[in-house]
Amino acid sequence: MGTIVRDARPNDAPRMGEVHVAAWQSAYRGLLSDEFLDSLDAPTRAEHWRGALTAATQRAEVPDGGSDPHNLVGEIDGSVVAIATVGPYRDRPAGDMGELWMINVEPSSWGTGIATELLGVAVERLVGMNCAGAVLWVIDRNLRARRFYEKHGWRVDGESKAELVGDREIIEVRYAIAL
Ligand SMILES: CC(C)(COP(=O)(O)OP(=O)(O)OC[C@H]1O[C@@H](n2cnc3c(N)ncnc32)[C@H](O)[C@@H]1OP(=O)(O)O)[C@@H](O)C(=O)NCCC(=O)NCCS
Repeated sequence: MGTIVRDARPNDAPRMGEVHVAAWQSAYRGLLSDEFLDSLDAPTRAEHWRGALTAATQRAEVPDGGSDPHNLVGEIDGSVVAIATVGPYRDRPAGDMGELWMINVEPSSWGTGIATELLGVAVERLVGMNCAGAVLWVIDRNLRARRFYEKHGWRVDGESKAELVGDREIIEVRYAIAL
């Protein structure tokens, strides 16, 4: 089985939309409302990704310092099954703090190791951005993701926040890692 992790390209957008929606609809069933989850739509997510990746491609032609997010995809046997984004910490002036903005793996590829490979490259990119450390936010009841991060050395740092997603208030906890 061949796996690779690489930078996302604009023509990955349709698959990225599908992976994103499939991961959310499995992982967050019972945590977010059915109405919100059922309203997620892969083509709409794909348009979001196409816009973000096209803008990133244009900016890459005029390099200006390396604080842009990195959008990555993981492939198994030539198909994109996993997506991740890293960049500067978004909640306050970032300084040298990076953030794993998101990681989503298509449910049929959970437990295959592609998530570990993708997280490894994502962390390498944060190191390449000269981040001294990184954080991520995860829904407190998302136990599979929490176990995954803990297995790879991330630890809760005591911060939490309430967020409204659809019509449901959820609690997110912050994890941190030194780089
Ligand atoms: C989070 C995610 C990227 C992890 O990838 P993965 O391939 O599932 O990860 P792994 O299988 O390597 O690790 C998951 C761990 O959780 C464990 N686990 C599985 N189901 C679990 C459950 N219900 N409760 C607690 N732990 C669970 C697994 O056994 C595994 O631990 P182990 O290797 O020590 O046995 C993937 O599950 C995903 O995309 N989820 C949906 C989106 C998401 O939640 N993203 C993160 C948002 S912050």
